[in-house]
Amino acid sequence: MMWMFWLLGSIVAFHSLSCTHSHLCPKKCVCEHTKSVQCFRIQAVPSGLSLDVRKLNLAYNHIKEIKGRDFTGLSDLQEVSLSSCGVELLEINAFLPQTSLRVLDLQKNKLRHVPRGLPSSLEVLRVGHNHIHGLQGVAFEGLHHLRVLDLQSNMITVLRANTLSALVKLECLYLDGNRIETVNGALRLPQLNLLSMTSNRISSLSSALFASLQSLRTLQLSENLLTRLPHNLPRALLHLSLDRNKIRTLRNRDLAQLRNLTVLSVSANKVSSIDGGLRLPNLTSLELSGNQLKVLPGRLASKLETLDCRQNALQEVTHQHLSGMRHLKHLFLENNTIRHFEAKALRNCFQLTNLALEQNLLTSIPEGLPDTLVRLDLKQNRIDTIQEKEMRTLKRLQVLNLRNNHLSSLSLAVLAHLPRLQRMFLGGNPWNCSCELLRVKHRLMVRQVDIGEELCVEPAPTLGDHWRASLLEQPRCINDAAEDTDYSGPEEQTENEEYYDYDV
Ligand SMILES: *[C@@H]1O[C@H](CO)[C@@H](O)[C@H](O)[C@H]1NC(C)=O
Ligand SMILES: *[C@@H]1O[C@H](CO)[C@@H](O)[C@H](O)[C@H]1NC(C)=O
Ligand SMILES: *[C@@H]1O[C@H](CO)[C@@H](O)[C@H](O)[C@H]1NC(C)=O
Ligand SMILES: *[C@@H]1O[C@H](CO)[C@@H](O)[C@H](O)[C@H]1NC(C)=O
Repeated sequence: MMWMFWLLGSIVAFHSLSCTHSHLCPKKCVCEHTKSVQCFRIQAVPSGLSLDVRKLNLAYNHIKEIKGRDFTGLSDLQEVSLSSCGVELLEINAFLPQTSLRVLDLQKNKLRHVPRGLPSSLEVLRVGHNHIHGLQGVAFEGLHHLRVLDLQSNMITVLRANTLSALVKLECLYLDGNRIETVNGALRLPQLNLLSMTSNRISSLSSALFASLQSLRTLQLSENLLTRLPHNLPRALLHLSLDRNKIRTLRNRDLAQLRNLTVLSVSANKVSSIDGGLRLPNLTSLELSGNQLKVLPGRLASKLETLDCRQNALQEVTHQHLSGMRHLKHLFLENNTIRHFEAKALRNCFQLTNLALEQNLLTSIPEGLPDTLVRLDLKQNRIDTIQEKEMRTLKRLQVLNLRNNHLSSLSLAVLAHLPRLQRMFLGGNPWNCSCELLRVKHRLMVRQVDIGEELCVEPAPTLGDHWRASLLEQPRCINDAAEDTDYSGPEEQTENEEYYDYDV
């Protein structure tokens, strides 16, 4: 027994002796290789770290205070994570000797200030989800290499642009989820590519703010209190998000300089008019759902691929509004009050595959829809008949939703115009289960079209005469159907996107 202890002791002694310099891994830490260390269940920065450690991951521990001496000698450190550690205090200049430090992650702590005296080598600083109330320029002095600054989910109320003016290399600035009401001055950040201020309390932005943001590509201002578009938006913008504000009008003159804009999103505002049309030559996606538009926006660029005008107050669709949209693929018009859909209104939309018209007031299927359509949703309208001429162009249609309309009959001839149909929703209609409809049902089954729920199910035997009559009727109807020969097997799938039918 005794010698076993002796042997063990000497192994441990030998081990620590030979590892003092470079291969020691502190207790509760994992050293993947000596240069990357991760520690668990610690309450202070571990001592005895190998001096050449580059990456130190201390996330999810309990470390209230960070002091400069915690990192003495670790001059090769490049990345440090102290996120979710409950850090309240970070000593000034704590990392100043770490002149190779590039990434410092301090998210989800209890810091009240952006730490001061960080090394000028820093490229990424994450201090999101802390208790920071205000920003002081002194914290950013010397950070000439900072590219990413994440300040989201703090308690900042005022943003003074000049506090950030030292950050000449800044590319991404995240200020989402603060309480910013005012933004003062001009942001002089020539390299800034992304500015995100979603979910604040901004009601207006001065035009000076953007004057020196010549590289800005993405601007996110959703969930604020803006009542109009900011003036002087940066010309290089590609993406602009203004969802969930209180904007009432979109004016071409506020947007006209955005020649490169590709995505504009102004959903859930109060837009009731669009002055002068939106002549944005590179726009491919326009989202205007949840506004108060009575007419479709006109004069849209021909590059537009997606137009989303769901949940507005649209009453009609005419060729005039849509004539220039030769590249339109997706048109979302559901949940409006559309009664009138001009025949061939979409005749110039040579690429349209998706048309959503559910929850409107249509009494018939629009005539002359583009033959490129793959999905057509007409759920919850007032359609009471389907005519052959309306179906003639729908040779590529795969999904047709007619649920919750006023249909009582459907003819086989209609089906013959839909050779590629894969799914058809027919529930919620006052079907007259006539022989013809039973034939249609049989045909759909033979063609393996998915109709979701049962159509004209045989009533339970207890229902008596009526049931017996329909039972007698069925084989006769089906025999007739067997003579139809126009069907030549299922078509290949041309689109793989899933289609969802939401219950309303
Ligand atoms: C718009 O995009 C083009 C092509 O990428 C680019 O050359 C031009 O500088 C951009 N315009 C602005 C104002 O950034
Ligand atoms: C935007 O459109 C203009 C004119 O059509 C074109 O010259 C320019 O290259 C486009 N920019 C981008 C980024 O596509
Ligand atoms: C339809 O629009 C109304 C008001 O515009 C809205 O309250 C409702 O939630 C919308 N319904 C659906 C299913 O989107
Ligand atoms: C159902 O269809 C049959 C056969 O077409 C017709 O005679 C009958 O009147 C229809 N019933 C209703 C309620 O429309």
